[in-house]
Amino acid sequence: MITVVIGTQWGDEGKGKIVDVYASAARYTVRFHGGNNAGHTVVVGDKKFFFHLIPSGIFQPNTIAVIANGVILDLEVLLGEMKLLTDAGIRLKHKLIISPRCHIILPYHKALDHAYENARGKNKLGTTGRGIGPTYADKVSYNGLRMYELIHWNTFVEKFTFQAGIKNKILKTFGVEPVDVTGSLAKFKKFRTIIAPYVVDTYPVLTKAIVKKESIVLEGAHGSMLDTDWSPYPFSTGSNTLVGAVNIGAGIPVKNIDTVIGVVKAYLSRVGGGPLPTELTDKQADVIREKGHEYGTTTGRPRRIGWLDLEAVKFTTAINGVTKIAITKLDILNGLPEINVCVGYTLRGKKIPYSSCGYEELAKLTPVYKTFKGWREDISGIRKFNKLPKNCQTYLRFIETFLGIPLGIISVGAERRANIYL
Ligand code: GDP
Ligand code: IMO
Ligand code: MG
Repeated sequence: MITVVIGTQWGDEGKGKIVDVYASAARYTVRFHGGNNAGHTVVVGDKKFFFHLIPSGIFQPNTIAVIANGVILDLEVLLGEMKLLTDAGIRLKHKLIISPRCHIILPYHKALDHAYENARGKNKLGTTGRGIGPTYADKVSYNGLRMYELIHWNTFVEKFTFQAGIKNKILKTFGVEPVDVTGSLAKFKKFRTIIAPYVVDTYPVLTKAIVKKESIVLEGAHGSMLDTDWSPYPFSTGSNTLVGAVNIGAGIPVKNIDTVIGVVKAYLSRVGGGPLPTELTDKQADVIREKGHEYGTTTGRPRRIGWLDLEAVKFTTAINGVTKIAITKLDILNGLPEINVCVGYTLRGKKIPYSSCGYEELAKLTPVYKTFKGWREDISGIRKFNKLPKNCQTYLRFIETFLGIPLGIISVGAERRANIYL
């Protein structure tokens, strides 16, 4: 059974929690794209864990975590996460493997990310500053360095020195401090000693798992609306975030995918710039932000808040071929007198689909809302659909019918067991 968990909005839908749930029955839990711009949360009992690179299913006792080739790695962050897990009593030997094909986020990538953002001034994109765009740019322009080069140390030294020389010239034009080549190499040499034993070709491992019919859960990062091709570019991230990235980023044939779980937060959030048609800018946004603790897992920035945009989610669930919906953070809507859901867009009085909108249209259009009555009850302790308040059931069934995709799981709390299964 191969399950892919995909965010259907602008990120932070609660993918980490859903991956952890599905990984309980899986042999492998896999990240296949993105870097530590992702911040995924898993709550086990009263402990909260944040993952930026290591797959969120790693806590499941029989699961092996795979960082596949599509992921880009900040080695310092990776080592920090490995230490946290080791301190939490997880033995990583034979439990974590990393593809030699993963590209490495280097100090000049982070410096360039910041330099471009500063230079953009009022047109800043609001990146996470983790060097994501510049690393993927180097990957596709044949200037990247991978775990493969790190293992082949002399090649790494040669290529890093060459690239840093060029990047330092570019940084100089931005008026930014150059990166320290000797100091960086000394650091990377140390990282290499610790990480090298985990670097294993992940393709045969996953291929064997498919032949043996072992379960694999693949963890999408970011959100579909941030996909490089299908976002309102350039308000994007550096990787393709759609389900097709599983093939490229982990070497798994698309035809082997059995289930695509589309994670839909019951409202929406966004960090960074760009148009957000259903954005709330009044007190209601503050109420939801505080109740939902909507502050970036990676950067701590307050997240922008909006009503659930089903026009956009209908597009992302369709393009991803989502087979089941996971609704998250439904409990955060407890106590709201009314809940709005966007069911379409109009621009200059005419209907316009999400797919025809660039950032100019998204910024100007008017969302068409359907209003639902809220519920007063606290639903966080409920574990059966028919025990939910009637208004809540109506809201959920509307989403299901509108999208034409069955609900699979409803999350009513951050803790891993706070779920209603359908
Ligand atoms: P991800 O990037 O999609 O994995 O999501 P994040 O971890 O960045 O943000 C989701 C936040 O919501 C985390 O703090 C989760 O612990 C929390 N969360 C997930 N599902 C639920 C839920 O159903 N209810 C509540 N109250 N919190 C949730
Ligand atoms: P998870 O996996 C929310 C956003 C950034 C910014 C844009 C580009 O936790 O859902 P980047 O650093 O990727 O070049 O920034 O993408 N972004 C995310 N927003 N959650 C994420 O990941 C994100 N990953 C990237 O805020 O707007
Ligand atoms: Mg997140």
